[in-house]
Formats: sequence, structure tokens, C-alpha cells
Amino acid sequence: MSQPETGQIANVMQEERLFPPSEEFSAAARIGSREQYDALCERAKQDPEGFWGELGQQELHWFEPFTKVLEQQGSDFSWFPGGKTNVCYNCLDANIEAGNGDRTAIIWEGEPGDTRTLTYLGLHREVCKFANVLKSLGVGVGDVVSIYMPMTPELAIAMLACARIGAIHSVIFAGFSAGAIADRNNDAKAVVQLTSDGLFRRGKVLPLKETVDEALEQSATVGKCIVLRRAENEVSMTPGRDFWWHELMAEAAEDCPAEPLDSEADLFILYTSGSTGKPKGIRHAAAGYNLWTKMTFQWVFDWRPDDLYWCTADCGWITGHSYIVYGPLSCGATVFMYEGAPNHPAPDRFWEMIERHKLTILYTAPTAIRAFIKWGDEHVDKHDLSSLRLLGTVGEGINPEAWIWYHEKIGNKKCPIVDTWWQTETGGIMMSPLPGVTATKPGSCTTALPGVVPVILDESLMPVSPGQGGMLCIDKPWPGMLRGIWGDHDRYLDQYWAKVPGKYLTGDNARIDQDGYYWIMGRIDDVINVSGHRLSTIEVESAIVSHDSVAEAAAVGRPDDLKGQAIAVFVSVKGAEPSEELRQELKQHVRKEIGALAVPDDIRFTDALPKTRSGKIMRRLLRDIAAGKETAGDTSTLEDLSVLAKLQSNQE
Ligand code: WT7
Repeated sequence: MSQPETGQIANVMQEERLFPPSEEFSAAARIGSREQYDALCERAKQDPEGFWGELGQQELHWFEPFTKVLEQQGSDFSWFPGGKTNVCYNCLDANIEAGNGDRTAIIWEGEPGDTRTLTYLGLHREVCKFANVLKSLGVGVGDVVSIYMPMTPELAIAMLACARIGAIHSVIFAGFSAGAIADRNNDAKAVVQLTSDGLFRRGKVLPLKETVDEALEQSATVGKCIVLRRAENEVSMTPGRDFWWHELMAEAAEDCPAEPLDSEADLFILYTSGSTGKPKGIRHAAAGYNLWTKMTFQWVFDWRPDDLYWCTADCGWITGHSYIVYGPLSCGATVFMYEGAPNHPAPDRFWEMIERHKLTILYTAPTAIRAFIKWGDEHVDKHDLSSLRLLGTVGEGINPEAWIWYHEKIGNKKCPIVDTWWQTETGGIMMSPLPGVTATKPGSCTTALPGVVPVILDESLMPVSPGQGGMLCIDKPWPGMLRGIWGDHDRYLDQYWAKVPGKYLTGDNARIDQDGYYWIMGRIDDVINVSGHRLSTIEVESAIVSHDSVAEAAAVGRPDDLKGQAIAVFVSVKGAEPSEELRQELKQHVRKEIGALAVPDDIRFTDALPKTRSGKIMRRLLRDIAAGKETAGDTSTLEDLSVLAKLQSNQE
């Protein structure tokens, strides 16, 4: 391992395997050759405004044309100013006008096994009716609608209905607590709440309305609440405030023209905390976001009209916004949507649905992939997954071991894998293989999409040399970028633009290898500094997870008098019992995989790791536990508090 330069992050991961797309895949792909891809990138680089202007013109419907492509004032950006468009129109009406009204937009399956199919025309009708429902409750342009709903078609209908009338949606994942909903409602000044009686999760009913009732006691700005009947559980309805979805829909007219809206009108707010700090409402603007999700959906997923595409995310996250609703629908895609848990009624639920519906594209998260590996191959082996042609991952780095499993077991070695790097803030995918072009390397998100200009800087803001890690920034604006933090513009400027003037600071560390491939090394805050060597969490974790007995691992630094920081690793095992012997074996394993420097000082066995509700490991909490401190700070985004309690009571 080479000695890192000052302030840079050591690269300890060696991954030499290369997986080029098959000739067959490339031949049929939208972008199937390096020349085609390079030409796009070159055009975007030479003339970004010409490039985006042309695409904006071509891909979106304009009620009034934009007068400029990009306007910049300091760190504030406007895309397509002067223009008027409507994202819902672009998703629905435009596809219907193109003659695709009878194409299936959504194939939905509930956890109990009930299914529904909506064509573009059918979806349009539902959306228009619900838009009229919202209007009848007084919702108009610029009003914030808070959505706390199960993964049903109505969730997408609600989002699109808001977009149609210029209301701003704030979707809150339906696993959050009453307190978390109220905080978000108050911050956003939401006027209407949408929810359901309950939702199905692992065969049980979660009483959403009950949680909302509690949240609304503390949400002063919310005057009305619309309740979808889903789980048929008993709920209490407050007269004058609460309305049944189906009753309002029964009265609603089907005609509701899309409101021509400014390009820069807020489309939605989405609260994100990542793994640290107070949640912030990330603002996305209509036109730029729409264009970004539409283009990236085509480029990265090589989408074709006959694809049956499944993104397993929840609409409560940006992945669901961008790659269940807005990206795919604005292309006219057929989207599969699933309500429930991946292991209900059995751990083969995903594979069973892929086989039965003959799905062709699967986009999921590394955390899910690691769970499937833990549950055992027999659940996969039962099913014919030959309909799949493309796989994707998102949300965190994927350990090479998990990547190989995904490639072999799910993709049968024939499906390209797109490891997509992006953030709530970026609106859509920024770095990813193009499946018909890029030879992939397990664990690397490979290269930037056309128009995305990443740079990696050290602490003195100088570009690092290849192989060295540093802060990942984006040098040029892109249409899908966030426009601000709701109600706190200073925090936006401070967090993303202050440290590195003129560049967007992602908050991630990354390195670029000798082939120009990018490797994300985790959040800047998560770096472990052992005797002056800055190690990235993902590399230590990948080494540990490559041991046969390890299902999942999280590495953090804890204070150490001698070395500055020592490495503590939290490990959940598979097919083995925690033991001192295994602990020693894992240390040896890391020594072999990375070197003595990265050998963990502590290895703690645990059944489960504390995760955010979107599946990200909360290293902040683990750092406290490793240091023997009381855990401090916000835990409202933690998925399962009992995991934390167990870890704390397991202190060695
Ligand atoms: C953070 C963003 C992207 C939508 C869902 C999460 C990490 C995301 C990857 C990837 C390595 C990744 C980064 C990023 N991340 N994708 N392919 N490889 N890391 O959105 O909650 O805003 O989180 O997730 O650290 O900054 P988010």
C-alpha cells in the first residue's frame, strides 16, 4: 500500500475484475458504443447550454418557451427561466398525445397479493380527479401537501396530482414516527395531509392514520386530512378535518387541465438527514429535475418500451421520486410497484414476482442484496429469473462480494449491473456505468454521465492525484441539482457551496483509479484516521464482508491515544457463531486483504446494525458506542431503536 499524501485518503482496495457488456447487449442498447457516449460527453462539455437547451426543448412540453437555458447568481441557479411547463403533463398527457394512452403505466402488487394495472389513460383520469379533490379543499399553486402513505398507486397519483396543480409535495416515508411527521409538517408549513387507514407490512397492519392523528395534534398549519382506505382497519375520523379519499373521488370531475408553471416552480420538498443532523427539506424545481430524471432514466437503464421495470425503493425516498414516478413515467415506461416486505410471505417474494410478472430491469439497494445473501441462495434458485436483462444498485457502495453474488445469482452472469451514485440533492443519477458501453468493476460507480463534471480535491482544495482519495465535488451545474433547503437558504449555501467556492460539495470522499473510474469512499465525516492514514469505511467493510461467515459489517473510528483513531468493526455473521476464534480469523482476513494498518482493534458481533429507514448504516451512533459514549443527537431516522439498545447493552 502506498503512503498517502497529506490529508488524502489511502486507497487500500484492490479490485481488478472487469465485466464488459456482452456484444448482444451493446448491439441492442440505446447507447451502444464508446464513440456514441464520448460524443455525448464531448458535446455536453463543449457547449453545456446548447446541449441542455436542445434536450430541454426536445424532451419537455412547453406552454411557453424558455428564454435562457441557465441563469446563475452566486450559488443560485435557474434552469430554463422564462419557460412554462408542467411535470405531470410531461408524464401523462404527453405520452397520451404520442398515442401511448393504452400502454400500461403502473403494474402494482400489494403485499397480500392483490394487483392493479393502470394504463396511461387510466392514470391520467385518476390524477385529474384527485387534482380536483385537492383543489376542492383549497389547495393551489405553492401550497405544501404532506404525503404519508403506503406504496399504493394512490401515492403516485397524489404526487402527480400535486404536480398538476402546482402544489408542492412533501412525501414522508410511512415508517416515520408522529414526531418526525410533525417536525416536517411544521418546517414545510404543510396545509393538507394525505394518509391511509393503514398499510400491510409482513402480514400485519400498521395503523398509519393513528400515527397521523398524533402528528396532526402538533401540526398547526395542517387543516385537512384525506384518508385512503387500504387496510380496512378501524380509524377515527375528525369531522371537518378528515375526509375519505373514495368519497371525495366519487364527487370529483375528470377534467383538470395541467397548470402552466414556471420552470423554476418548486416541484417538491424531500426531507433528508443522511446519517447526521437535523432533517433538511431539499427543494427541487420542476423543469430541470424533470429533464434530469428523464434523460438519466434512458441513459442508465437503457429503457425500451417493452421493458417491465422495477425499482424496489419506496416513494418516500428520492429514488422513488426520480425512478419510480418522474423519470420512468415521463419516458412512457411501464413501472412495476410493490407495496410490502421482501420476505413476506417468504424470503423469495422478490424472485417470485420477477418470475411471475417477467420483469426485465431490477433496481435495488446493496442493503437488500446483503439481506438476500444472508437468507440463502435456495430462495433464489427456486425461480426462473431469465426475464431480467439489467440490474442496478443505489444508496451506498456495494461490497464487491455482494456485487458478484448479484451478478451471478440474480443476473445469471448476463445482465450488466449499473452501480448508480447520486444523492437526494442531485435529483438523479450522476455517475454510473452506461450498460451498453462501460466495462464494470465491482464496487465502482465507474464514470460520470454526460454533463456531469466531478473533481476530487484535498483539504487545501487542490486536485488529488489518481489513486488518492479526497472530497468529491461537482464542478459544473446540472439541471437536476437542488435549488435550496426549504426555509433555510443559508444552510444551503453553507453546506454545499461555502467550503469549495464555485463547486458543489457532495460530502462524499472518492478516488479515481488509473482507468479513470470513480470509487466512492463514504461520507467525509466517516473517514477513519489511523496513525495519520485516512482509511475509508467502505474498504474496511468490503474486506470483512468478503469473509464467508460475515453477512454485514460497519467500520468506525474510535479515539485511541496512540494511533489517533482505532478501527472498530460491528459484524453480523451468517452460518457461523460469534466466537473469539472467528474474531481472530477476521483480523487475519483483513491483514491478508488490506494489510496490517487496517486490522480492526475491536470486532463486535451483533445481530443487526442500526440503520436509517432507507437502509443506511448510522455510523454516527456506532462511533458513540465504539467510544463507550452515550449516543447523542437525532435518532428520529433510525429504523429500529431496539438495535441500538441491544448494542449499548452489549458493551464489552
Ligand atoms: C448518499 C446519498 C442516491 C439516492 C438514494 C440515497 C451514498 C448513494 C451510492 C453508490 C456509493 C452511494 C453516498 C451519497 N450513495 N449511492 N452507488 N455508491 N455511495 O440518497 O439518502 O441522499 O444519500 O448515499 O454517500 O452521498 P441519499
